[in-house]
Formats: sequence, structure tokens, C-alpha cells
Amino acid sequence: MKTIKVRKAIKIKGECIAPADKSVSQRAVMISSLANSPVRVDNFLDCDDCRRAINAFRAMGIKITLKKTAANTSILYVQGRGLKGLKKAKHALYIGNSGTTMRLIAGILAAQDFKSVLTADPSLSVRPMKRITGPLKAMGAQIKARIKAKQEYPPLVIFGKDLSAIKYSMPVKSAQVKSCVLLAAIFAKGTTRVKEQIKTRDHTERMLRLFKSGISVNGLSVKIKQVKELKSPVNFFIPGDISSAAFFIVGATLLSGSRLKVKKIGLNPTRIYLLKILKRMGAKIEILKKGSNLKSFEPYADIRVVSASLKSTTIKETEAAYCIDELPILCVAACFATGTTKILGASELRIKETDRIYSMVTNLGKMGADIKSEDNNLIITGTGGLHGAQVESFGDHRTAMSMIIAGLLASGETTVKNSSCINKSFPEFMKILKNITKLT
Ligand code: S3P
Repeated sequence: MKTIKVRKAIKIKGECIAPADKSVSQRAVMISSLANSPVRVDNFLDCDDCRRAINAFRAMGIKITLKKTAANTSILYVQGRGLKGLKKAKHALYIGNSGTTMRLIAGILAAQDFKSVLTADPSLSVRPMKRITGPLKAMGAQIKARIKAKQEYPPLVIFGKDLSAIKYSMPVKSAQVKSCVLLAAIFAKGTTRVKEQIKTRDHTERMLRLFKSGISVNGLSVKIKQVKELKSPVNFFIPGDISSAAFFIVGATLLSGSRLKVKKIGLNPTRIYLLKILKRMGAKIEILKKGSNLKSFEPYADIRVVSASLKSTTIKETEAAYCIDELPILCVAACFATGTTKILGASELRIKETDRIYSMVTNLGKMGADIKSEDNNLIITGTGGLHGAQVESFGDHRTAMSMIIAGLLASGETTVKNSSCINKSFPEFMKILKNITKLT
């Protein structure tokens, strides 16, 4: 229930390392646990959501250790026990607030020869699960969920079964759903084919390829045959999370006189739409080749951001899906852009950790922004400034961090209530922000 107070900053200057990617870190725990021998993961993200994934696999008999390095990063060691190595947990697996852990782990558990129970915190307990139970049931899974108005919600009781491959045409644009089906497909008899509407983040496909699963990708189609074993790559590195770096990138763009280098930031092509959109709005963001590794299994590089004036843009539905996690901070950017920015068809924002259309309209409205929602569209007209106010995270990490950046840009003082949720994805956020922000 932490309250964070921020005042207008002068500029952002210096350099920082983006925290490790949360999506990749969670997948690293799950896929390494199923590998045929130990895996070492460098630059693992130690945060609440990743701890939920670790605890779940520990409860199923996997030995997992986390070590801090002198550089304050974390190394994850996972003693994979093979595809048949998981044991029935002695208790329900508490997944807390982590939608990714819940939806991905369900795919794995659906194929085990034991029963599992997945429980969640109040926020995740009201997020829809039919999007995963539907395809899993089509593969032969037996899952009982809490049902309300024809939707399914946690807790999930999963009775492990022998699964069969499916041909699945995705009705939602969701990497979590795709990943859930692909992880179930590892165990399912036959060849599973998944077809997407747009290419959502492909971290599961990349990691399954790294573990020699025989997965193949052709445009929007992914194909995977039942896997005999997942071969440990021995070790791999997780780059920085662009969704976390996004807060600093927008802050540095909007505070005049800023100059920031963000090191080792993940530049997976399915995750870089924030940069594309900001550049279109006039942002000055440069990818620095030196010291980068754009060819790794998850490409990364250093980037430099210098302050710039922004103009409005229209983010269409497909593009909104590509940068769904960055839309809250893009709302903040739009408040300082000339003209009217439209974010269209962002219905998925309604079912994140909170309703992010509501949270951003309410909070930025309190700070004097010209922002409104029409159905699932956001319409924001830049007014050139915001004023400090008392705002709320609504228990949502990305709303909290977006509002802290808004507070650095606004006149007077901004109070962001209920901010401990930041630990979900970025426990070091305030520490890094203080290091790079010049207040006087
Ligand atoms: C994620 C996918 C996205 C994203 C979430 C992480 C993932 O969710 O919003 O923060 O790791 O696969 P959806 O699949 O629901 O779009």
C-alpha cells in the first residue's frame, strides 16, 4: 500500500540497464523445468510474477536457485527433470497476480498425470480464462473453473490427461493463449498448428527453438510436433524488458534537455512497436550497434534517447495489440504531443491487471489532461502540460509507473497511491529513476 510522491523534474540524464524481460524470464522457468538437464539463465528478472512461476515449479519438485551477482543482476539455475519430471504438488499453486504464469502453466499442467489447483489474487481471479480452457479442452484437457455469466475464472482445477494435437485459429490476439497451446502441444499426440491474426510476441517459439523442440514458424502459423525431449542449451541470457524501459524512454523524450542511454534492451521485432510509434510522433531514439547483439535468440542492443517535441498519432487496433503493455505510458506521451492522439480498439486493456482505459482516463483527467474514452478507444488531445494531483495505481504496476512519470512532467506534486504493485515487474524502478532523474 505504498504511496509515492513525485515533483516536476528538470531532466533525465545518464545511463541505465533495463531490467530483464518478464515474459522471457517466466518462460525460462517453465521451459527449463522441462529440460533434460540443468540450465543456467543469466540476467533473470527477480520480481513478484517470476517468483510465482519459480514457486509453482519448486512445489512440483524442480530444484531452482536464484543468485545475485556483484552487478546486482540475478542468475537462475534450474535442474530440469525432463518432460515427465514434474510431481504432483502437495498444495494448491498460488499464482498471485501473474496472468502469464497462470495461462502458460495451465498448458503444461493439462498434460501431466496428476491433478493441480491454480489459485490467484483478487485481481487475477476476475480475469478471463475461457480463452485458454477452450483450446485446452479441445486437446482433451479436463479443467474446472469458476463460472460466471458464461466466462471462466480462477481458481482452475486441472485434471491432467493425455492430450491430442489441434489445429487452432486464434480468436484473440494474445501471446499468452498462443503460448499456452504451444506448451500443451509439446505433450500432445500429433502435430499442433496455431494460426494467429497478428504476430504476437514470439518468446515461447524462440525459446522452444533454443531447446531444440522442432518448432517451425511460417508467417502467422506455428507448427509443433509432440516433443521427445527438450535439450538444455546449458545457459542463455535474457535481455532487458522494453515494456519496463518504456517509462524511462518516454520520460527522457518529454523532459527537455534529457539524454539517456538504455543498455541491453530487448529488440525482439514483435516488441518494438513502442519505438516505432514514438519515432513517428517525433521522438529521437537511436539504436547503437556498438556492444549490441542483434543476432541472439532474443536480440538486444543499447539505445540512446534525447528529448524531442512530439506530435499526435493514430494507433490502430492491430498496432495497439503489438504494444498493449506500453499503451498506458503512451497515453502520458500523448498528453504532451500537439494535436489529438487516438488509440483505437484497445479492448484488451479492459482486462489487464486493472481496466487500464478507466485507470488512465481517471488519473490523467485528475491531472488536467484532455483524455476520454469512447467504447474501447482512447482520445487524447495534448494540452502541453499536466498539474500534480493525487492518483491511484488501481493495483496495476503499469498504471503506477506511468503515473509516476506523469508526475515528473507535471507542475507541483503528484501522489501515486497503492504503488507496491510495481514489484510485480520492476522492483528497482524507483531506485533507477532516482539515479537518472535530475530534480534541481
Ligand atoms: C504476455 C502477453 C500479453 C502481455 C502480458 C505478457 C506474455 O498478454 O500483455 O503482459 O508474456 O505472453 P496477452 O497475451 O493477454 O495479450
